[in-house]
Amino acid sequence: MSTSRRTLLAATAGGLAAAGMATAAPAHAAGGRPAREFFGRLADGTRVDRWTLANGGTRMAVLSYGGIVQSLELPDRRGRYANVSLGFGTLEEYVASSPYFGALIGRYGNRIAAGRFTLDGQSYQLPLNDGPNTLHGGTQGFDKRVWDVEPFTAGSDVGLTLRYVSGDGEMGYPGALSVRVDYTLTRDGDWRIDYTATTTKATVVNLTSHVYYNLAGEGSGGVYDHELTLDAARYTPVDATLIPTGELAPVAGTPFDFRRGKAIGADIRDSHQQLLYGQGIDHNFVLDKGSTRLPERVATVREPRSGRSMSIATTEPGLQFYSGNFLDGSFAGTSDRVYRQGDGFCLETQHFPDSPNHPSFPSTVLRPGDTYRTTTVHSFG
Ligand code: BGC
Repeated sequence: MSTSRRTLLAATAGGLAAAGMATAAPAHAAGGRPAREFFGRLADGTRVDRWTLANGGTRMAVLSYGGIVQSLELPDRRGRYANVSLGFGTLEEYVASSPYFGALIGRYGNRIAAGRFTLDGQSYQLPLNDGPNTLHGGTQGFDKRVWDVEPFTAGSDVGLTLRYVSGDGEMGYPGALSVRVDYTLTRDGDWRIDYTATTTKATVVNLTSHVYYNLAGEGSGGVYDHELTLDAARYTPVDATLIPTGELAPVAGTPFDFRRGKAIGADIRDSHQQLLYGQGIDHNFVLDKGSTRLPERVATVREPRSGRSMSIATTEPGLQFYSGNFLDGSFAGTSDRVYRQGDGFCLETQHFPDSPNHPSFPSTVLRPGDTYRTTTVHSFG
């Protein structure tokens, strides 16, 4: 691809998405080397970059701050592009306050009860940042760290390698954790995430990605008419602070049954106690396939008006489906439209919440000498 064409694609991925415009563009932009541009500076002077990449019709902008997917542009059935991920146009907004828009989450995605766990007889206390619990790694999780980013091209794939070393004791977790995350756009326009990590001491790890999707375009309104299929016969019910009770409850006969596919909003106003706790759906689903060595498809979402769709395949045993319940009009997003409850949804592939305190859940313990390895693939249609 010519430099000017690449520059144009790069500018489009950032600029037009930032303006919230639906744009006409070739449905199968070829992959070129990802491009880097200055995005802003943190208060301590650290530079933050925005990387833009495109392949197979998918365009993406990624920040070195938090590994944040700042925009994800997909064509609709007529080839018109829209940014389908909620976020902000400036670094200042991400730093000031963000409900994890687009971010990489670690060391431990989701909640740990009272921010406390015991490992090999030793107790650890994490900072509390979600009422009585720790959420998404603590007060300064991976979403607030500046990652080292390197572009790559491999055959017909293009991507970014993000690296971060979390020091021993950072946010209360034991062991220095070396994390590598590869974001790959394939020639079919799939977005693949490979997570790896190693540690110097036994620790717990649960990495995920926190993109809020609206397949009709961010800022375009609610997602309740998106149709979701989830291959999960059970979920993990929670207490009033959203910590799992330990039970793996059947979804059959409840609002949590998405096995045959239904609109996200179909049962969201049901008075089921679990929906009252989450102010909608904010629950981990126990994927029928369990942990797998290779990613297997677990979820599909379709947006009827645009015709856009997404399917998710993962190696992980769980998936947090969050229906954007706590978006309350306090953020204006990338296109300067206010996000209200249900204007985006997250599908966070993961191990179960609070696993360190539930020996019956699949283990999230990582030991020195072992490598943490998970993969999640998003395919768009
Ligand atoms: C959690 C929600 C939380 C949201 C943003 C989701 O992963 O499940 O409870 O409000 O992240 O913080």
